[in-house]
Amino acid sequence: MIELTAVVTGGTRGIGLSLAECLARRGASVAVTYRSDDCAAENARRAITPQLAAGRRLLALRGDAGDASAVAAQHREIRQALGPVNVLINNAGVMPPAAFEALSARDWDETLRINLSSAFYWCREVIPGMKALGFGRIVNIASIAARGGGVIGPHYAASKAGMLGLTRYGARELGPFGITLNAIAPAFIEEAGVFAGISEERREALASKTVVGRIGRVGDVVRAFEYLLESPFVTGVCLDVNGGAFMI
Ligand SMILES: NC(=O)c1ccc[n+]([C@@H]2O[C@H](COP(=O)([O-])OP(=O)(O)OC[C@H]3O[C@@H](n4cnc5c(N)ncnc54)[C@H](OP(=O)(O)O)[C@@H]3O)[C@@H](O)[C@H]2O)c1
Repeated sequence: MIELTAVVTGGTRGIGLSLAECLARRGASVAVTYRSDDCAAENARRAITPQLAAGRRLLALRGDAGDASAVAAQHREIRQALGPVNVLINNAGVMPPAAFEALSARDWDETLRINLSSAFYWCREVIPGMKALGFGRIVNIASIAARGGGVIGPHYAASKAGMLGLTRYGARELGPFGITLNAIAPAFIEEAGVFAGISEERREALASKTVVGRIGRVGDVVRAFEYLLESPFVTGVCLDVNGGAFMI
């Protein structure tokens, strides 16, 4: 059994935190990264630490996932403290809503940088170590917006669709080295990001967009991740965790 050493970008809140907790429960050492919210990072530390197995460790590192040099510095620190990374979840993301004509070039660049370039920077860092181990799992957290466009804006849809291209290309190149790359495309996850704390009315409106009659929970995303973690013969796919909303 391979000992897991995992990085979860944006692992201090929402979906990322639940994935980090899952990894801790499965015996991994875990590094979570975040951009600026030290309070959320402290809460994450309190939530994850009791779930770590004996001898396993947690790091919470502040820095911008969309900055290649910050990512390289974080990776160096993680390697030194925890050893080579064999699980990477590219989860950090932003979703500032803006329609075409309201979207500035700056917000376009910023969203692509944080949501998409960050995934490339992190992959580039961890792939050599995964190749040396002959094992790696990379999971990119995309969105329903990657498939159907979504409602946030062109910048968000393009950044998440870009992740799917990155996933498929990476699966092809890295499969021979025991490394799988897959994506999860969630929708309407109630405890996370823009959907945390929504009104009952909004919840019902969103639930009506699914065929299962409810919105998603972080546990739905965790279940999809665990399947990908355990599946050496599944690579280059995107699991749509959206209650069937994609079909409507
Ligand atoms: N919630 C949903 O229903 C939903 C649906 C589809 C897709 N997604 C995707 O799922 C992922 C997680 O979403 P969420 O709703 O769980 O988000 P969230 O609750 O808003 O948490 C976002 C996390 O990403 C971190 N982050 C943001 N910008 C960063 C940066 N530049 N560098 C490093 N870390 C950064 C945040 O750190 P700070 O707290 O320090 O800012 C935080 O830890 C995102 O990629 C999102 O697009 C979510």
